[in-house]
Amino acid sequence: MEENKVIVLPAEIIKNEQVAKNTWQMTLYPRFDFDVTNTSPGQFVCLEPLASDSVMARPFSISMISTSKSTFKIIYRVVGKNTLLMSKLKNGQTIKLWGPLGNSEIIDSRLYDEVWLIGGGIGIAPLLFFEKVISEYQEHIARVFYGVKDVLEMIPLKVYTPEEVQIATEDGLINFHGLITDLFAQKIISKPAKLLVITCGPNRMMQKVSEICQQYNTECLAILEQVMACGIGVCLGCSIKTTKGMKRVCHDGPIFKAEEVIWNELG
Ligand SMILES: Cc1cc2nc3c(=O)[nH]c(=O)nc-3n(C[C@H](O)[C@H](O)[C@H](O)COP(=O)(O)OP(=O)(O)OC[C@H]3O[C@@H](n4cnc5c(N)ncnc54)[C@H](O)[C@@H]3O)c2cc1C
Ligand code: FES
Repeated sequence: MEENKVIVLPAEIIKNEQVAKNTWQMTLYPRFDFDVTNTSPGQFVCLEPLASDSVMARPFSISMISTSKSTFKIIYRVVGKNTLLMSKLKNGQTIKLWGPLGNSEIIDSRLYDEVWLIGGGIGIAPLLFFEKVISEYQEHIARVFYGVKDVLEMIPLKVYTPEEVQIATEDGLINFHGLITDLFAQKIISKPAKLLVITCGPNRMMQKVSEICQQYNTECLAILEQVMACGIGVCLGCSIKTTKGMKRVCHDGPIFKAEEVIWNELG
């Protein structure tokens, strides 16, 4: 696996807009040095608003890149101090950026009949980058499954992908009423012979996806979003137990084989 060359620099905010309840999208232009074409799905950046009361940088998945404009997008949910500060930043302001971070192995979707992307809540963010690479660059079949608690939290995915998205809402106001894992459990019954599943979302959801995949003898990759401190493999703060020993999510992940994660020991 390739080692990342981590760059620290101020990035310009091209656009920062609300896209759903408590959910924002930020388009960033990191200028020279940080080559967006050298990033791959699953990778993330750490961002720190340049405000005196911000504590430390926070990790966010790259969810879309524009090679022509040298920009990339993140989609983030406002949950605490940093994300609240981020949501108040205006177009043209700068933010401190570390990246790209995380493992950068490109998945060749053509080794499979189809790739299914199962996202829960804001966990959809890195999966949009996968969908783009698979369906546009690799010209292969990626199917997106997206679960949200209520419709107000739903990111309008039509902006990101022309493909049909299978949606599950817990309030049942549109599409499938229930958990995304219930919808997935129904669909996998008629799966293609060689299927790859990639999932991101709450740990309990990913654990369930992983269990269903094992039941159907299907490969599954999970993108973990453990709370991080340094983001570069030094502090061990993001360590998790796997069947291959302790792993640092920021350095050895965030993409892991789901069957190797000891899910019950995660927070
Ligand atoms: C590799 C990686 C990729 C990520 N990608 C995204 C993304 O694309 N979009 C996005 O919105 N978020 C993403 N996250 C989560 C994001 O980093 C946190 O939401 C953010 O750090 C919160 O910062 P804060 O200062 O606003 O909140 P804090 O004040 O630090 O925390 C507020 C609340 O959120 C909880 N929290 C903090 N971090 C996490 C986490 N990693 N997982 C679950 N709960 C957490 C805290 O326990 C607390 O309850 C990612 C995390 C990782 C590790
Ligand atoms: S966050 Fe420090 S080792 Fe991963």
